[in-house]
Amino acid sequence: MTDLLNQFTDKYELAGKVAIVTGGGKNLGKTITEFLLASDMSVAICGRDEAALKSTVAELSKTFPNKIIAQVCDVSNSAQVDNFERFVTAKLGDVHVIINNSGFGKETLVWQTAEDDWDDVMNTNVKGVYLMAKAFLPKMIENREGYILNIASQAALNGYSNAGVYCASKFAMVGLSKALQEEVREFGIHVHSLNPALIQSKKKPDDIIDSGLIQNEDLARMALYLLQQPRRLKIDNIGLWGF
Ligand SMILES: NC(=O)c1ccc[n+]([C@@H]2O[C@H](COP(=O)([O-])OP(=O)(O)OC[C@H]3O[C@@H](n4cnc5c(N)ncnc54)[C@H](OP(=O)(O)O)[C@@H]3O)[C@@H](O)[C@H]2O)c1
Repeated sequence: MTDLLNQFTDKYELAGKVAIVTGGGKNLGKTITEFLLASDMSVAICGRDEAALKSTVAELSKTFPNKIIAQVCDVSNSAQVDNFERFVTAKLGDVHVIINNSGFGKETLVWQTAEDDWDDVMNTNVKGVYLMAKAFLPKMIENREGYILNIASQAALNGYSNAGVYCASKFAMVGLSKALQEEVREFGIHVHSLNPALIQSKKKPDDIIDSGLIQNEDLARMALYLLQQPRRLKIDNIGLWGF
């Protein structure tokens, strides 16, 4: 039996690779960042909240010195994304993994959603993924190696009241991912969307774990699992729920 299991040793090696986590300064993005660092990757994080980015770099650098960098970057702003690409490539070299985690919604009925809110959600959750691909994919294509992992949602597959713009954006994120996957398959690049239900993502250390909700660590572990699969394997549409 051991011999049989030992045959499957072609798992993708993450050690020494470079990852980006958008929104990596807090909550789910921060936990995913920690898991990638623990896998011996170097990680560049971004977001709009400079204080959160600085505090996360200071905290995680204690355990993972010289492995994490950060820059302020609004993923919906093409100039800032291009600037982030130059910063990351200069500091860490070519990027192997992009985790598009930045995202948010608005709790409003569709017809009562302010136009600015509509634009903000769509620009972050959808245009942000497009801009990251535009900035980082050319090098991945040249290297014929890369993995883009998008944090979508069950709202990418189902309609929920008071979440119209969020559902629209996450459906669009998954559609964009699937189309992109077809475009970059020939270069050996994987594109995947994870579809979690509710996550207790803003939990503080002393908060009680709500066992009905997904924990950040559950999702980070699933992200690592996907990244480490042999590149000949395509996995699609993983759903996660609290249990
Ligand atoms: N929580 C849930 O129940 C749940 C369920 C399914 C899917 N998700 C998805 O999981 C991801 C993380 O969720 P979370 O619960 O950790 O949310 P969160 O605490 O609100 O964090 C959102 C992250 O996105 C970043 N962000 C927002 N707008 C941005 C922009 N324009 N440019 C760059 N970064 C931006 C924020 O960083 P800054 O503040 O620094 O900009 C923050 O790090 C989101 O995509 C969310 O849709 C969450």
